[in-house]
Amino acid sequence: MSRQSFYLTTPIYYVNAVPHLGTAYTTVACDALARYRRMTGHDTFFLTGLDEHGQKVAQAAEENGMSPQEWCDSIAPRYREVWEMLRISNDDFIRTTQERHKRGVQAFWQKLHDDGYLYQGHYEGWYCVPDETYWAEGQLVDGKCPTCGRDVDFIREDNWFFKLSEFQDELLALYEERPQFVRPEKRRNEVVSFVKSGLKDLSISRTTFSWGVPLPFAENHVTYVWIDALLNYVTAVGYGDPEKEIQFERRWPAQVHFVGKDIIRFHCVIWPAMLMAAGLPLPEMVFAHGFLLTKGEKMSKSKGNVMSPQDLVERFGVDAYRYYFLRDVRFGEDGSISLESMVQRYNGDLANDWGNLCSRLFNMTEKYVSGVVPAPPTGPPTDADATLRALAGFLPEKYEAAMEKLDYGAALEATWDLIKDANRYIEQEAPWNLAKDESKRARLETVLFNALEAVRIAALFCAPVMPDTSAEVWARLGLGDIHDVFDIAAEGEWGRLPQGSRVTKGEPLFPRIYEDV
Ligand code: MSP
Repeated sequence: MSRQSFYLTTPIYYVNAVPHLGTAYTTVACDALARYRRMTGHDTFFLTGLDEHGQKVAQAAEENGMSPQEWCDSIAPRYREVWEMLRISNDDFIRTTQERHKRGVQAFWQKLHDDGYLYQGHYEGWYCVPDETYWAEGQLVDGKCPTCGRDVDFIREDNWFFKLSEFQDELLALYEERPQFVRPEKRRNEVVSFVKSGLKDLSISRTTFSWGVPLPFAENHVTYVWIDALLNYVTAVGYGDPEKEIQFERRWPAQVHFVGKDIIRFHCVIWPAMLMAAGLPLPEMVFAHGFLLTKGEKMSKSKGNVMSPQDLVERFGVDAYRYYFLRDVRFGEDGSISLESMVQRYNGDLANDWGNLCSRLFNMTEKYVSGVVPAPPTGPPTDADATLRALAGFLPEKYEAAMEKLDYGAALEATWDLIKDANRYIEQEAPWNLAKDESKRARLETVLFNALEAVRIAALFCAPVMPDTSAEVWARLGLGDIHDVFDIAAEGEWGRLPQGSRVTKGEPLFPRIYEDV
């Protein structure tokens, strides 16, 4: 049977800046789902990449004394490096200056032109370069961009327009019939009221600068950067390339687009309307996450309150980094982040609960049973045994339900229920006492087996968020490569820990951090 395709994407990032905590946040979240979907056996395809055209990038290049292409080429490796550092497992990396993309963009707009969805007109109004967004006079707040508060430019151009307004009813029907299309619900309501308030046609070309994909039917017009960028989701999987039709059929539509809440209008209004006009299927879900705030403010370069992913990874390690953002901030809501809360999570959840469980248990296994996994218990389980098993038994289902809603917090909480109970179990059963009495040997072996089995299963479910340490725990349990698991539910069944497997203790996974922050 062919495996079900699961195609998920991050936004493509502007190359005016190097990766920061905000862009890393979207990317890590998407990566955790990609890793989980590989473990649920899906034929997963995870796309990220770079948005390289537009005025903002052209300006950044100019400020740095480079041509736009040179500038993009100098920034792209910075993204690749940081994504590698963060263990981002993307299957492709699209750059909008690549030929495959440009060809697809031109094919797309040519089709909409031929099918009568475009017309020539005149644009007069405001434009926010940092957000690459058009604004009407009445939308400005104190003469500034209503979303980012920065200065706007007045532009007057002859442009091509897309008949976006014709799609109002079809879009409203979409939100009604497929509530999953915009998640969470709060964002869906926002999008619905925006569309109900009336849609204007969209200017899709620019003539006053040239850093973009030329419109094939209009000389001196380059495509507006957003309608170039959105198409990356289809051009990356073969749109516009006759040789890639089969691949395109297999991958499109995407299952999830991950986006920040600031870019939902582009993804939930303009993008589906573009696809409707082209007669292409719509993605299943656009999930909008909130902003990371430091001391209550959105982190941004202009506010100077940006911490770098590199600094934090150096301090906490990559898995703790990934864990913190997905556990401490409810995905979909804004969340305050701070070094203090990061140290707290690290020492509490990772050093005390998870790291400590592994260390003490692997030590005891070495000490009391020569590092060899004992035989699975045969007698009737005690209440404590049964509780531990039950928590492990519920985990696959609870985890799946949480991940379907992209509720990473709940998925990790369910995993922590097992980890915490395993710690309690060891405390209560006290293997160190059992080991003193030869007549309690069988119970000692049962307790160690059960606790090791809980650790094996917990590592499995930690793996999408913390791939390195989970792989390490599996290696210390003498098991195979955790990245080769393609059926997490089956692998997560109780009792699969092989008797006789050799356990090694190793260094602490998350050594406590004592330093002040
Ligand atoms: N290039 C466009 C996206 C085109 S997709 C077809 C773009 N790029 S971006 O580099 O500005 O930002 C991309 C993502 O980073 C957005 O989803 C945005 O929400 C996210 N973040 C940027 N700063 C953020 C925070 N402080 N917190 C959380 N995410 C934020 O927009």
